[in-house]
Amino acid sequence: MLSSIRCYLLPVFKLYLLGLKVLLVQLFGRSFRLPVMPRQDGKVAIVTGGVRGIGYEVVRHMVKLGAHVFIGTVPNITDSQSGQDARKARWQENGKKIEFRKLDLASLQSVRQFVQSFKERDLPLNILVNNAGVMLVPEGRTEDGFEQHLGVNYLGHCLLTWLLLDRLKDSGKCGHFSRVVSVSSSAHRIGKIRLNDLNSCQWYSAHAAYCQSKLALLLFSSHLHQELQRGGFPVSSFAVDPGMVDTALYQYLWTPLRLAQSTIARFLFKTPAEGAATVLYAALSPALEGECEGGYWANGCREMTTPVTFDPELQLSLWETSLRLVGLQ
Ligand SMILES: NC(=O)c1ccc[n+]([C@@H]2O[C@H](COP(=O)([O-])OP(=O)(O)OC[C@H]3O[C@@H](n4cnc5c(N)ncnc54)[C@H](OP(=O)(O)O)[C@@H]3O)[C@@H](O)[C@H]2O)c1
Repeated sequence: MLSSIRCYLLPVFKLYLLGLKVLLVQLFGRSFRLPVMPRQDGKVAIVTGGVRGIGYEVVRHMVKLGAHVFIGTVPNITDSQSGQDARKARWQENGKKIEFRKLDLASLQSVRQFVQSFKERDLPLNILVNNAGVMLVPEGRTEDGFEQHLGVNYLGHCLLTWLLLDRLKDSGKCGHFSRVVSVSSSAHRIGKIRLNDLNSCQWYSAHAAYCQSKLALLLFSSHLHQELQRGGFPVSSFAVDPGMVDTALYQYLWTPLRLAQSTIARFLFKTPAEGAATVLYAALSPALEGECEGGYWANGCREMTTPVTFDPELQLSLWETSLRLVGLQ
């Protein structure tokens, strides 16, 4: 009984309480407005999950500034060919430089194929935005047998970043570092890394799994930044919390909550464009240039988050375990 409360009810309670707190801060705090960013002509970016929500706004802004953007996306099986063509046409009508590539983060093979197809183009890579994500999905496994949140939100991005690291390093230079921006969440604050049960085989809570995946992404981002700086490479790694944003991410909430959320969201949540602001700031701002940057960013500011995110032993253990899981060691 006690263990059921601890495993299943506590993560639910903690996540909704945190959501309420974030909402109140959002309501009474000042919302970050993205300053005017410099032109990005000649820059190449990859954005995962760039066809809707926050990712869509990130792509829209980047292409407006002249960047060449690759969108990694899962072709939706419910999308007809004409629907997909219409989506592409919406982007391409203004002659923007956008390319769509199949990327299913729930499949390590798909991640490898995506990277191969990108590298075949022989382009530089200046910005990688690890944005795609799922939240509170029913228990399930990815193609490689990982728990869904861990596999899609974290391990897929972990492999993607690793395989693109050489291109990011080659494309960065002093004064123009390449950047990796990983979209985490304030939910990382209540996350726990279960190193001996990362895949939630012993017990499954969608709430705990989401929080774990977002904490893992933050630990990865932070460790990656340190490794890059130690090696003297011109690449920075940032983790970002976009805030509570009105997107389809909430589609798996329990139905009564989903109804309440969709009503509240219209008034209290950020719009996807507002949610994209800090992501874009981390990806584009000249103010964040150089090896001292990186870190965790929320509402346009660098934040010191929970002590666990700075734990070097945990960062290293997770790093090594993750590389092994994605087949890199
Ligand atoms: N919304 C919030 O309040 C909030 C708060 C904190 C953090 N975040 C984070 O922000 C990021 C963007 O979320 P959002 O709010 O914009 O949600 P969203 O509208 O649901 O967008 C999620 C994106 O991820 C893509 N995706 C899902 N599974 C994928 C897979 N297996 N492979 C490749 N792409 C996949 C989706 O692609 P399809 O369109 O093809 O399904 C979609 O484009 C997520 O990482 C989320 O955790 C959001």
